Amino acid sequence: MRLLVLNDNAPSKGFLNDWGWSLLVEGRTRFLFDADTRGEILLHNSEVLGVSLKSLGFAVLSHWHYDHYGGLSLVGELNPGIPLYAPPGNRMRGMHWGFQVREVTRAGEIEAGVWTSGPLSGFEQAVGVETPSGLVVIVGCSHPGVDRLTRAVLEASGYEKAHLVIGGFHYPSARTLDRLSELTEFIAPAHCSGDEAKAYVRKKYPEKFVGVRTGSVIEL
Ligand SMILES: [Fe+2]
Repeated sequence: MRLLVLNDNAPSKGFLNDWGWSLLVEGRTRFLFDADTRGEILLHNSEVLGVSLKSLGFAVLSHWHYDHYGGLSLVGELNPGIPLYAPPGNRMRGMHWGFQVREVTRAGEIEAGVWTSGPLSGFEQAVGVETPSGLVVIVGCSHPGVDRLTRAVLEASGYEKAHLVIGGFHYPSARTLDRLSELTEFIAPAHCSGDEAKAYVRKKYPEKFVGVRTGSVIEL
């Protein structure tokens, strides 16, 4: 099983890049978590990584902000009729892109081995995915707090601790990161986490820190 970072704020040579976030999960099923700002970026970067954007089982949207949903129209076009698990609010838009929109209103299992936190603060969800290494928690921008989202996913899935938490942490405080460190073995701050948060985790929890950027592949 593996995670492929199709786009992160941090660029890599040979990949297209901008401010956004998109992660492809390949395991029991293939799914996309968030879709960056533009389909062309996702298409180019997945080609460089040697993977297809077609044959997805489903897609997940963390929240309705452009740096996370911008590429969804292309994803829907390439995978007509697949479920899109999204917080409530834009059902028509998702349907227009070709998805079967499933609005997420509460915590629970959405697909086999995939749990959502439900929309926290009314608008953003995170998911947990069962992997051979344990539970991987994937977050978008963590506006409600990466520690809160992680705790909600742990509660929904029944896991006591996560193997990895990856995604945008929204410029978290040191206290938030300290709380997060108790909930997971590994921490991969990406997207809107900020250089300060990355440096804090790298220095205080070097055994937990995982550096990711556009094009990173994490084997589990
Ligand atoms: Fe974001």
